[in-house]
Amino acid sequence: ASVGGSGTQEENGAKTHILAVPFQAEGHIKSMLQCAISLASMGVAVTFIYPARFHSLARKRSLLPSPEHPSMKAYSSLRFEVADDGLPLEEEQSLTAELLHMSIPIFQKSVSLILDRLLFEEGHALSATLPPISCILSDAVVSWTRQLADTASLPVVPLWTSTATSYSMSAHSPLLIFYEHLPVKEELWLEGKKWMLEAPLVECIPGLSPFPVTDLPTEFCKAETLSDPSLEFLAAACENGKEAPCILVNSVYELECQVFDALRSEGYAVEAVGPFLRHRISQNSDHESLQWLNKQPVSSVIYIALGTVCHLSTSEMHALALGLEACGHRFLWVIRQDEASAANSELLPDGFYARTVAGGRGCIMTWVPQEEVLHHTSVGAFFSHCGWNSILESIWEGIPIVACPIAMEQRSNAKYIVEHWKIGVELKRHLDGSFSKEAVEEALLQVMVSESYRKEAGRIKCIIRHAIQEGGSSHSNLIRFQKLLHSFRL
Ligand code: UDX
Repeated sequence: ASVGGSGTQEENGAKTHILAVPFQAEGHIKSMLQCAISLASMGVAVTFIYPARFHSLARKRSLLPSPEHPSMKAYSSLRFEVADDGLPLEEEQSLTAELLHMSIPIFQKSVSLILDRLLFEEGHALSATLPPISCILSDAVVSWTRQLADTASLPVVPLWTSTATSYSMSAHSPLLIFYEHLPVKEELWLEGKKWMLEAPLVECIPGLSPFPVTDLPTEFCKAETLSDPSLEFLAAACENGKEAPCILVNSVYELECQVFDALRSEGYAVEAVGPFLRHRISQNSDHESLQWLNKQPVSSVIYIALGTVCHLSTSEMHALALGLEACGHRFLWVIRQDEASAANSELLPDGFYARTVAGGRGCIMTWVPQEEVLHHTSVGAFFSHCGWNSILESIWEGIPIVACPIAMEQRSNAKYIVEHWKIGVELKRHLDGSFSKEAVEEALLQVMVSESYRKEAGRIKCIIRHAIQEGGSSHSNLIRFQKLLHSFRL
């Protein structure tokens, strides 16, 4: 099915047309979609591949950017194609790494058929409205697009949806193997927090200060052998990085300048082009969560959300609930449908709901329009798993963070919050990796009470907002990318 992209070629004014291929996980799709919208707003025509599960969720929730959403109509040069991904359409079902890996060949086949149709069958009809596709913009972790692009004689530009730091960690996996940091020694991983104190330091990655090996993305840390599919998956994403004409990164040069400089001097054409938050896409100003926030005092509410895939254990959920209750502040807590349905009736401690939510002090929802929530004046702090989208959305609004990294590259993201930008604290964990109610209470109180985190968050907010304005670093890099796109047509 294809949607959108109305108007003649003159009306659209688009000089170039790209195919945007995201990875099938929500956090990745959102970044790519925001990038596509930014490019469309600059006059680039974009055909965006919408993976079927996300497309269906978007329609059901009417919160996520759906191709049919009126806000999308503003971008006449943005059109959508829905591709099969073989993933379950039910919101109740969690997306596991296994499901995602299984879905890759289905998605690949579907995208390949769509590209063939666009290039050959429909190419002629489309050319009345849009120029021919001249480039594939691919999520960097979707490495099979290289083959697709080669067959169609198109260039491919990767988009890395997280930090340059995590890109660099993945790109340097051969070096990590050479220095025997990978695979991570089992005993370091299994002893919980102890590994953080005793883990060997990685000192071989240019542009990164020495860091414990356990700060690597968890796919790396947990890989038992070098042929572990998760490790191979990430390494493959950066394998031919030096050959790419340009690697777009959803980050800001000023936030990670040493890493960007080091990568560039090694031959990776990385360009910081984020954040893509100027054009808000999850519009739903009537949502119940926002109506509830309207009734709360300024900066009084702690917002809690763990992105779209990560979970806490039942005991961690209890510690979080009790810590929240003990800190005495109001809260808005997202407990996703898949978390709620996977858990039993003991998901929350006895009487917690009655003491807090029923009493009006808290609100629990299965989904909220997060960008609008963070924009709301009643929100004072964000308890986050440190997914990169969530961090960008929080600093975009100058909101301090309690960092509770769980998986993937979230540990290194949390370091930026605590050590580099000083806009929040990290939740303290026990030696076995668990955390207590007291630790939650302490972290929440620190961030809600201290003015210094809010002040620093305001400073970082200015930096990233400046970056996307005319003359700002990300804006200039996007313009350069647009020129590169023009050169692909010649
Ligand atoms: C995943 C990884 O976990 C993360 O480490 C990586 O940086 C990106 O891919 P995810 O866990 O989904 O992402 O987290 P995050 O990157 O924060 O993205 C979640 C997105 O869902 C955010 O854009 C957020 O605004 C949105 N969201 C989440 C909502 O709009 N409403 C909600 O209720 C919860």
